Amino acid sequence: MKFLLIISAFAATAVMAAPTKGLSGCVATSYDQIAGTKACSAITIQGPFTVPANKKIDLTGLKTGTTIKITGTITFAKGNLDGNNDLVTIGGTNIKIDGTSGKFDGSGPLYWDGKGGNGGVNKPKFVRLSKMSGSITGLTIINSPVHTFAVSGCHGLALTGITIDNRKDHAPCGPKYALGHNTDAFDVGSSSGVTITGAKVYNNDDCLALNSGTNIVFNGNHCEGGHGISIGSIKAGSVVDGVSITGNTVVNSANAVRIKAYANATGGKVNNVTYSDITMSGITDYGIIIQQDYTNDGATGNPGGAAPITNVNLYNIHGSMAKKNRQSVYILCAKCSNFNFQKIAITGGLATKCTGISPKPMGC
Ligand SMILES: *[C@@H]1O[C@H](CO)[C@@H](O)[C@H](O)[C@H]1NC(C)=O
Ligand SMILES: *[C@@H]1O[C@H](CO)[C@@H](O)[C@H](O)[C@H]1NC(C)=O
Repeated sequence: MKFLLIISAFAATAVMAAPTKGLSGCVATSYDQIAGTKACSAITIQGPFTVPANKKIDLTGLKTGTTIKITGTITFAKGNLDGNNDLVTIGGTNIKIDGTSGKFDGSGPLYWDGKGGNGGVNKPKFVRLSKMSGSITGLTIINSPVHTFAVSGCHGLALTGITIDNRKDHAPCGPKYALGHNTDAFDVGSSSGVTITGAKVYNNDDCLALNSGTNIVFNGNHCEGGHGISIGSIKAGSVVDGVSITGNTVVNSANAVRIKAYANATGGKVNNVTYSDITMSGITDYGIIIQQDYTNDGATGNPGGAAPITNVNLYNIHGSMAKKNRQSVYILCAKCSNFNFQKIAITGGLATKCTGISPKPMGC
C-alpha cells in the first residue's frame, strides 16, 4: 500500500512536470524567447510584445511538421534595415501556422515616404516564406514598411484568410493615398503548388506579383488600393506556367488584371493562365493590361517577344473604370498567342485596344 502510494505520487509529479517544462520552453512571450522555441514541434508566439529595432525573427530550419500558433500583436519597432532584409523569415517542411488571433505590425507609417523600394529611407521587407511547405491561416499583417510577403522556393503552401492592411490610419484606399508605396501583398517566385485564398488586401502595389512559378492558385481574394493582380514582372529566365486566378474582387486600384513582361526577357515565358470571375470597380489605369513593354521605370511602348505569352483565358471579367479616358482592355504584345476572351464587360473606359496577338481573340 505504502509502496503504491509512493509510486503514484512519483507518477503524478512526473506527469505534471513534463508538460509544464515543455510548455514554457515552447512559448515565446518576448522577442528574446523566440530563438529558444525553434527545437519545439509545437510553438506559441504570444503577443503583445515588441521586436526591437533592427532585429529579425528567424523561424527557418524548423522541425518537419511543426505547428506555430501566433496570438496577440507583435510590433516591429522602426529601424534602418534596407530591402535586402526581411523582418521575419519562416522555412521548413509541412509547417502549419495558425494566426487567426495574431497580428504583425511593421510600423510602416514611420517609414513611408511615398518612395517605397525606389529611394528615400531604408525599408526592410516584412515576411519571407523561404522553402516552406504547409500553411498559414488567418494572420493579420498591418503597416508593412515595403513588400509584405515574399514567397520564394516554396512547394506546396496554402495561405488562407490572411489580412494585409497597409493604409495609413485606415485612410481610404487608392492610388492617390499611396504613401506606403511598393507595399506588395504577395510576391511569389520560384515556387509551385502555392494557393492563396480568402485574403483581404488593402495596399499600394501589386496584390499578387507572380514572378515565376508553376501551378499557382489565387482564389476568392479582395484587393483594394493597389496595382491589381499581376503576373510578372517577367524578366530574363522567369517562367510562369499554370495559373488559376478566380473569384477575386479588385477595388480602387490602378489595374485589375495584369501580365507584364520586359521586352527583352530572354528565356522567360508565361503559359496556361486563367483569370475568371473577376469583379472590379474604381480602376484608374487599365481593367485588363497585358504588356510586353514593361520596365520598372514605365512602359516603353515598344513591345518585344523574348518572353512569349501563350494560352491565356480571360473569362467573366466585369466591372467599371474610374476614368473615362483610360482603356478598359489594353494588350500590347509582340509575341502573344492562343488568347481566349469570353464575357468581358468593363464599363466606363475607352474601347479595347489589342496589338500583337495571333490569332486575334473575339472582342479584341
Ligand atoms: C494549366 O494549369 C492548371 C493549373 O492552373 C493545371 O491544372 C492544368 O493541368 C494546366 N494545363 C496544361 C495543359 O498544362
Ligand atoms: C532589358 O531591358 C531593360 C529595360 O529597358 C534594361 O534595363 C535591361 O538592361 C535590359 N536587359 C538586357 C539584358 O538587355
